Amino acid sequence: MVLYAKARKEEAEKVRDRIIKSNAMNPDYPVLSDGPYVFFPLKQRIDGLNIVEKEAEKKERKPKNLRDALRGVIPDDKLDKVTRSFDSVGDIAIIEIPDELQEYEEEIGKAILYIHPHFKTVVKKAGKHEGIFRTMPVKVIAGEDKTETVYVESGVKMKVKVDKTYFSPRLSAERLRIANQVKEGETIAGFFAGVGPFPLVIAKRKQCKIYAIELNPVAYELMVENIRMNQLKGEIIPLFGDVREIAQSIPKCDRVLMPLPKGGEDFLDVALRTCKRGAIVHFYQFAPDNDLYSDAIEKIKKAAMKLGRKVSILNKKVVRHHAPHIEQIVIDFIVE
Ligand SMILES: C[S@@+](CC[C@H](N)C(=O)[O-])C[C@H]1O[C@@H](n2cnc3c(N)ncnc32)[C@H](O)[C@@H]1O
Repeated sequence: MVLYAKARKEEAEKVRDRIIKSNAMNPDYPVLSDGPYVFFPLKQRIDGLNIVEKEAEKKERKPKNLRDALRGVIPDDKLDKVTRSFDSVGDIAIIEIPDELQEYEEEIGKAILYIHPHFKTVVKKAGKHEGIFRTMPVKVIAGEDKTETVYVESGVKMKVKVDKTYFSPRLSAERLRIANQVKEGETIAGFFAGVGPFPLVIAKRKQCKIYAIELNPVAYELMVENIRMNQLKGEIIPLFGDVREIAQSIPKCDRVLMPLPKGGEDFLDVALRTCKRGAIVHFYQFAPDNDLYSDAIEKIKKAAMKLGRKVSILNKKVVRHHAPHIEQIVIDFIVE
């Protein structure tokens, strides 16, 4: 038997609003009507409403999307605040919930699990990427209470802790772009390696040697595990510590990866010193969409001039959207 609120048709709209405001609508059962009455399915009793128990069949129809699944669960005028997209890292969904929907976070999480049953956990972003490790606080809002998962990209398996390590699935195309450029036999410096996605995707495809440097101990340990977990054509040498110190002890390289868009410019001198003649550097930055490249190119030229190195820009492009009017860009340059 299911709890229903019974209302005359002329007062149905008012009763429905009251149920939604009390967060008591039961989305698993249909709204029914019988003669002059409408019956709203309830999760719990609400004082002052005419409550009855009725036989009812669970809804069969699978909602088309998250908004559809939440119709009747959160107020209609807030439905358009529900995001249309979220990040998917292995079996964890990562969602941004605006302030006005915070009180419905559990319902939103459960709706995601219902529509996408391959997820085991839904977390909400509970802050921005911050600190030197660029980690983001998250809160589990539905499903298993965990933040660790295994993510698969370009045939590579990677263990990730979404709260303790930086990781973005939105860089997958960029990682492939670089991997496709690498020539067999290259020596590569993988600065700011995180759990190893750039080095792993490259080494999966190309016979090469990659020195992968990471400062976050949790990310470093996961990178070591991830290297063991995959069959790679190339060799990855994981190195724990600060790029500024560690890069001094590695050989000169054919290519340097600099995936640290916030603050990476402070390491351009290290990258230039790590380059063989003719080496290529991939330099990432955040940039305003009305002037994407001038600032980054200026920083590269300044750093090169200081060290007396000549550089030429090979390619520049937007890698992904970051925030309103801010893009993540990459500049590929060659060091003569
Ligand atoms: C934006 S994340 C990128 C991680 C990884 N490349 C990826 O794409 O998922 C930057 C990484 O650089 C690391 N990091 C920051 N400063 C560093 C430094 N001075 N030396 C080594 N690693 C550093 C952070 O811990 C973080 O894992």
